[in-house]
Amino acid sequence: MATPHVTKAVIPAAGLGTRFLPATKAQPKEMLPVVDKPAIQYVVEEAVRAGIDDILIITGRGKRTLEDHFDRNFELEYYLAQKGKETELAEMKALAEMADIHYVRQGEPLGLGHAVSVARKHVGDNPFVVMLGDDIMVDDGVVLTEMIDTYAHYGRSVVALSEFPASEISAYGCVDPEVISDDLVQVRGIVEKPAPEDAPSNLAVMGRYVFTPEIFDALEQVRPGVGGEIQLTDAIAVLLASQTVYGWVFRDGRYDIGKKLDYLRATVELALEREDLGPDFRDFLVELLDKRGLR
Ligand code: G1P
Repeated sequence: MATPHVTKAVIPAAGLGTRFLPATKAQPKEMLPVVDKPAIQYVVEEAVRAGIDDILIITGRGKRTLEDHFDRNFELEYYLAQKGKETELAEMKALAEMADIHYVRQGEPLGLGHAVSVARKHVGDNPFVVMLGDDIMVDDGVVLTEMIDTYAHYGRSVVALSEFPASEISAYGCVDPEVISDDLVQVRGIVEKPAPEDAPSNLAVMGRYVFTPEIFDALEQVRPGVGGEIQLTDAIAVLLASQTVYGWVFRDGRYDIGKKLDYLRATVELALEREDLGPDFRDFLVELLDKRGLR
């Protein structure tokens, strides 16, 4: 039987964003603008670039602006049409028609694994992608596309991995890898947020996953782990007992916009890439560095 196409993505976006207070006190962190788009729009666009057209966003309390963002806004469209602002009008319509976006509430914030398990009914017996809304990839969807290709080749789950120094590994899921090639490993074991001395390698799990539907059975077996939460990493460890899992290793382009410094980095890189803003912004940065004696 041919491996089914991956057409669905699940984006957990129910977190409280405590690392980005006070900006996230009254608005979801996924709506923080990076240049002029909310963070989650980059994630949705990445999914669409990788050929996904059915997106389920797992939300929680206070996330209504997220739904409004991807919905039509007839009042705004009417206003833009009246003013002859055709470019903006087309952009707003395209945004609402980019993909089929569905929402489900997590209910209780019991952890990332629990958030993904809420997607079971929607996903059914299909492979799917999980994209963490905090992680923005500045790579034109290349990593996700390569992960989906790897799934298509092996018919098995694939997690995104990047190398981190031992001092930072405790912030992530970490794998015990068996190297297959430069970009690909087989995952022999996986552990959530290990102490540096217990880390099986320096390869950390990044916020992109392709899963076979068996991950849902695995999630049902998982008990609360690190932080008292149902961890997705622990479900991958359970899945490993019955299915091979692969790791796709990439090097650049990921920003954790839930972290203030990474948020600033993402903003600068994305602004520099923009045709309309990039050249002027570059001149400003150079001038600023000179003025401050940083160059
Ligand atoms: C989550 C996952 C972790 C992964 C990380 C990537 O952690 O639990 O395995 O490495 O995302 O960003 P969190 O950032 O929610 O603590």
